Amino acid sequence: MKKESGATLPVWMNQLQLPPTKTLEENLSCDVCVVGAGIAGLTTAYLLAKEGKRVVVLESKDIGGGETSRTTAHLSNALDEQYYNLIKLFGKDGARLACQSHAQAIDKIEEIANEENIDCDFTRIDGYLFAASAEEEEKLMQELEALQQIGWQDVVMRKRCPVDTLTAFPCLHYPNQGRFHVMKYLNGLANAFIDKGGRIYTGSHVKEFRSGAVATAVTAEGYAVAANHLVVATNTPVNDRVTMHTKQAPYRTYAIGVQVPKDSVADALYWDMKDPYHYIRLQKETTGESRYDLLIVGGEDHKTGQHAHPIECFQELERWTKLKFPEAQEVLYRWSGQVFEPVDGLAYIGRNPGDEENVYIATGDSGHGMTHGTIAGILITDLIMERPNPWAKLYDPSRVSLKSVGEFLKENLNVAAQMKDFVTPGDVDELADVIPGTGRIMRKGAQKVAVYCDQDGVRHQCSAVCPHLGCVVSWNSVESSWDCPCHGSRFDPFGKVITGPASSDLGPAS
Ligand SMILES: Cc1cc2nc3c(=O)[nH]c(=O)nc-3n(C[C@H](O)[C@H](O)[C@H](O)COP(=O)(O)OP(=O)(O)OC[C@H]3O[C@@H](n4cnc5c(N)ncnc54)[C@H](O)[C@@H]3O)c2cc1C
Ligand code: FES
Repeated sequence: MKKESGATLPVWMNQLQLPPTKTLEENLSCDVCVVGAGIAGLTTAYLLAKEGKRVVVLESKDIGGGETSRTTAHLSNALDEQYYNLIKLFGKDGARLACQSHAQAIDKIEEIANEENIDCDFTRIDGYLFAASAEEEEKLMQELEALQQIGWQDVVMRKRCPVDTLTAFPCLHYPNQGRFHVMKYLNGLANAFIDKGGRIYTGSHVKEFRSGAVATAVTAEGYAVAANHLVVATNTPVNDRVTMHTKQAPYRTYAIGVQVPKDSVADALYWDMKDPYHYIRLQKETTGESRYDLLIVGGEDHKTGQHAHPIECFQELERWTKLKFPEAQEVLYRWSGQVFEPVDGLAYIGRNPGDEENVYIATGDSGHGMTHGTIAGILITDLIMERPNPWAKLYDPSRVSLKSVGEFLKENLNVAAQMKDFVTPGDVDELADVIPGTGRIMRKGAQKVAVYCDQDGVRHQCSAVCPHLGCVVSWNSVESSWDCPCHGSRFDPFGKVITGPASSDLGPAS
């Protein structure tokens, strides 16, 4: 299970019991085709099947095989963008709607788990946002005022955080947040969907999207699903070439699971106020006589493809964890994943801009993909059922906010700056400089080549140019992948696409 970098699979992958599925090997037609079997895609598919729609889900990998299985599964409407910012961007009514939509998403997860008898350890717990300096304490006050303005009255300021070692400064206490075991939930959701007549095809990568009165998704093997509605829930929209990728930015984020003595840490969600922030929760041991709980700590985010030594992110996370939780013991899990940060803090859910009316996307989840994904299920179901939904305008992917133009420019200038990689030298001059288990970029005349040396010393070469919009990829030593620093496409060591927006593999080295 360990990789050369010391990364492991996320804690959720230890108890996988997914329903049996197969690859698409025929042409189909249905009411709705959903592409992507993460929380956004499966929630949408389940809710539509419940409405009586004939739904087909197409998934490249396995159920939950994208970012959903990499989550730390905080369920929260204490949004990381902070409500004082959301009020500036969307007004009090918009910020109130955002707050309500995430609260309703937590309710919906609880409702589905109860209705479908999904044993997914869903638990209501409190959340604490803690300050670590006088300046942060002022920001806490500002946030509390913003919460009162939008009518969230039961959040209170506490002088001390339940975990003494975290901070001597105050914290905000948010009641009624939640946590769950994401893969147990997804397994239950998939089974409930199949029971309602839904069909899931895994190992079925969609290569081509055709718009029209009838929308069609065509897999890499050439099989087509024709549908009245197409929902692209691929985390980042692989059916959109440019527009949406200028409105959000890909970040890698890191998580560790560390043993702490049973009941030594109060069971709650905790977040600090750093940028990037740390997010912490407990996974209580529910079976057996374990003397430990698992403390899950995340953070150390950076833009995808822009950290030369990502292993340092795990090291820093461990250092911080041991400082803040002196009782922390062995680190059992280390994993990383990708989140897409929208320029104005809220996800993009609804009709795909510039496309036919019957094509929908869900993206820009930031650190709230569990609730944003559930909101996507509720909202897209309403759009397809032609019912009004109060959140439709707030999450509309075609929204433009002049107030977020600063963040938009910052992220897009950062993308433009990555073009320098075409004129810089490579990481190494010779193939022999690439040692087993690693990847390096090499210059060959005017070309940049991605060279991976496998454990047997065989060197594999492919073009280092990302097929999305042409940036040069860089080696991610933690996940053993080639990551694009522009919009977050990722490729395996041999150049096979793992994550969009690129829809094809890295080309051959010329
Ligand atoms: C370390 C980490 C911690 C996090 N912590 C939290 C948290 O505490 N709380 C929270 O709310 N959120 C958290 N998030 C965010 C959350 O996990 C994600 O935003 C969420 O899982 C995204 O769900 P999704 O369904 O949109 O995408 P995914 O789960 O990525 O699903 C998309 C699916 O589409 C498939 N796909 C892609 N392209 C194609 C194609 N061409 N054809 C067919 N299938 C395709 C993929 O294989 C994938 O399975 C965290 C994320 C990470 C990485
Ligand atoms: S992801 Fe856009 S250029 Fe690579």
